[in-house]
Amino acid sequence: MRMTKKAAAVALASMMALSLAGCSSGTEETTAAETTTAAETEATEATEAETTAEEAAEEAATTAAEALGDVDLSDKRVGISIYQFNDNFMTLYREELVRYLTEDLGFAAENVVVQDGKGDQAEQTNQIQNFITQQYDVLILNLVQASSAPDITDMCHEAGIPVVYINREPDAAEEERWASEGIAATYVGCDARQSGTFQGEEILETENKGDINGDGVVSYIMIQGDPENVDAQYRTEYSVKALTDAGMEVNELLIQRGDWDQAKAQQIAQDALTQFGDQIEVVFCNNDAMALGALQAIEAAGRTVNEDIYLVGVDALTEAVQNVIDGKQTGTVFNDHFSQAQTAGDIAVQMLAGETVDAVNMVDYTKVTQENAQEILDMLN
Ligand code: GAL
Repeated sequence: MRMTKKAAAVALASMMALSLAGCSSGTEETTAAETTTAAETEATEATEAETTAEEAAEEAATTAAEALGDVDLSDKRVGISIYQFNDNFMTLYREELVRYLTEDLGFAAENVVVQDGKGDQAEQTNQIQNFITQQYDVLILNLVQASSAPDITDMCHEAGIPVVYINREPDAAEEERWASEGIAATYVGCDARQSGTFQGEEILETENKGDINGDGVVSYIMIQGDPENVDAQYRTEYSVKALTDAGMEVNELLIQRGDWDQAKAQQIAQDALTQFGDQIEVVFCNNDAMALGALQAIEAAGRTVNEDIYLVGVDALTEAVQNVIDGKQTGTVFNDHFSQAQTAGDIAVQMLAGETVDAVNMVDYTKVTQENAQEILDMLN
């Protein structure tokens, strides 16, 4: 399910349009209609010469429509709420989701409304309540706090509106309840244990398995995302578990929350480098935005990645993948926002068609090291 060139061009253009919309004060919601006008203008030049790519996109849309039956989506309304627009990875995800719903699945742009939860659960719950009052047909929700899923699911269920949760996974008991009580709710995401394990393996694949000073122990710092989030919990646990499972001894010098944020991670890494200096052999970051911040601190401290310190992240942001190619980041893990967004869109349509869907739908991560980083970058571009 890769993007065509045209899709990529439009996605890029809508990214620009979305970030512009996000900057305008007082605007709390953007419709895909507002963004696609700008997107189309931006994309025109890039796509004019690409008749073949356009035909391929149309073909993909037809195939998706056939696979999903004869639901008329032109008047169906999709309410989307993202936990926070100010998040690198979720911005890529959001853009692909809007692109896929409108271009490939055929929802009308003005019927796809995206809200910014602004990291505030009370605010996001209000937005969801408004979607319900306005009788939206399906909701796609990236919760601020996954622990609010039971209440929000009940609100949607009582109103007869199906809900697709994305990115922040509700707990297993809640997911089981959807199936046992016949509730039209589902989760689309990735198993974060896999990404953590891949990070640990990337360290094990280095020439000294992370033990740069040869003292028999891998000493590391762990910069975490939001610890309420299962992605942060599992990546933290499984990255280290991969090392210990392989028989390595480990020493955790520091674990601190950086909330997925580049600037916070830079500060944490800077302080840790001052405090622990050469003792730090590995910097684990739960995502790439934080790895980019850590790299700034590592370079400022005069340290050299892959020589006297290792650095790993998750997401495969283009800047981080370029750093892997350039040897400035040891590895990352591709968090496939294309497949996740497209699966979420397809499942939303199945639910609109009244089909029963699985409670949990997982997409695979891909390990990114120097060996395949160029290939991954070409695909992202
Ligand atoms: C993770 C991703 C992070 C951040 C987080 C938000 O899957 O790796 O960068 O976007 O989701 O919940």
